[in-house]
Amino acid sequence: MGAGLGGLCALVAERSQLALPRLVAEGFVTDAAFMDGSHVFHNVFVDLYFLRELVRPGGLVVLDDCHWPSVATAVRYFELNTGWELQQASRATRLRAFRLPDPRTEPSFESFTPFQV
Ligand SMILES: C[S@@+](CC[C@H](N)C(=O)[O-])C[C@H]1O[C@@H](n2cnc3c(N)ncnc32)[C@H](O)[C@@H]1O
Repeated sequence: MGAGLGGLCALVAERSQLALPRLVAEGFVTDAAFMDGSHVFHNVFVDLYFLRELVRPGGLVVLDDCHWPSVATAVRYFELNTGWELQQASRATRLRAFRLPDPRTEPSFESFTPFQV
């Protein structure tokens, strides 16, 4: 996992599911994140959970390989339940960019929307 820190680039040789929560605990905030890690559903879901905390409201999360059901299903939860908005691409690409809502809102468990693609 790589992280841009203060204009520098740092390589974190660790599973992102362990490194991202540490960045959250350290108070790291970023305008945008690009994710291209494990494509196992539960790993993608955990990565997106922590990116939702690391990326500032109104910022962007960009994912590669969204044509894989495991990746597409994980991000669908955040679209349907937390207000992430798919951004239109100007040309065909396998990347998908999502804008996070501003302000960040916390969904109620009572308004849960099932998210299978
Ligand atoms: C499926 S590959 C990405 C392929 C790329 N999209 C392409 O088209 O070539 C996933 C990458 O994430 C790394 N990776 C796998 N599991 C990871 C994890 N738990 N945390 C961080 N990186 C991981 C792998 O080492 C690999 O470099």
